[in-house]
Amino acid sequence: MMVGAGLLAGVGLGMPPAPDPVVSAQTDTVAAGGRLYRGKGDCQACHGWAGDGRKMNLQMPDGANLRASTLTREQLVFVIKCGLPGRYMPAYDRRAYVDDRCLGRTRADLDRMGLQLFDPPATLQNREVERLADFLLAKVVGQGPMDRQKCIDFWGEEARVCRTEFPD
Ligand code: HEC
Repeated sequence: MMVGAGLLAGVGLGMPPAPDPVVSAQTDTVAAGGRLYRGKGDCQACHGWAGDGRKMNLQMPDGANLRASTLTREQLVFVIKCGLPGRYMPAYDRRAYVDDRCLGRTRADLDRMGLQLFDPPATLQNREVERLADFLLAKVVGQGPMDRQKCIDFWGEEARVCRTEFPD
C-alpha cells in the first residue's frame, strides 16, 4: 500500500507525538532519537515513519526495511555516519569522507570507485547519531513488521495512523 496524504496528515509530519505517560516513561534518548528520525535527520522520507521502507516522500529513493535489519549498534552508528556510497543512503557525519573516519576513504576515493554519495538533509553530531541508534534498537531494528500494538507502543498513544493502518 502506498503511503497517502491521509497518513501524512494523521502522523503530523516532522512533529513529535504529544507527550503522554507512555512517552515520558521511555528513556529520554529513545524519544530524542525518534524526534531526530522524523525531524532533523528525516530518515522517514526514505525509510518510512515505521522504518519499514515504505517511504514518506515518494520522490525520495527507496530506503531499506530497517525493521528487518540485523545490524549491531556499532554498525548502525557507522552506516548513519558514513552512509552507503552508491546506494542512496546519505552520510550524516559532517566529516565523512573528509578525514579518515569512514574506512579511511575520501570523496576522491569514492569518485575513483564510481560511488556517488547522497547528500543528507542535515548533518548530525556524534551524540545525535548515538540517540538515533538507541531509538532504532528500541523501536525499529529487529522488531519485525509493524502491527496495531507495536504502533501504539511506537507513538506512545493510539495514534490515528495505528487505526487507519491496522483497523480492527
Ligand atoms: C535519501 C534516502 C535516505 C535517507 C534520508 C536515509 N536513508 Fe538510510 N538507507 C537508504 C537506502 C537507499 C539504504 C540502502 C538500501 C539498500 O541498498 O539496501 C539505506 C540503508 C540504511 C541502513 C542499513 C540497513 C541495513 O540493515 O543494511 C540503515 C541503518 C539506515 N539506512 C538508517 C538511516 C537513518 C537512521 C537515517 C536518518 C538519519 C537514514 N537512514 C536516512 C536511504 C536513505
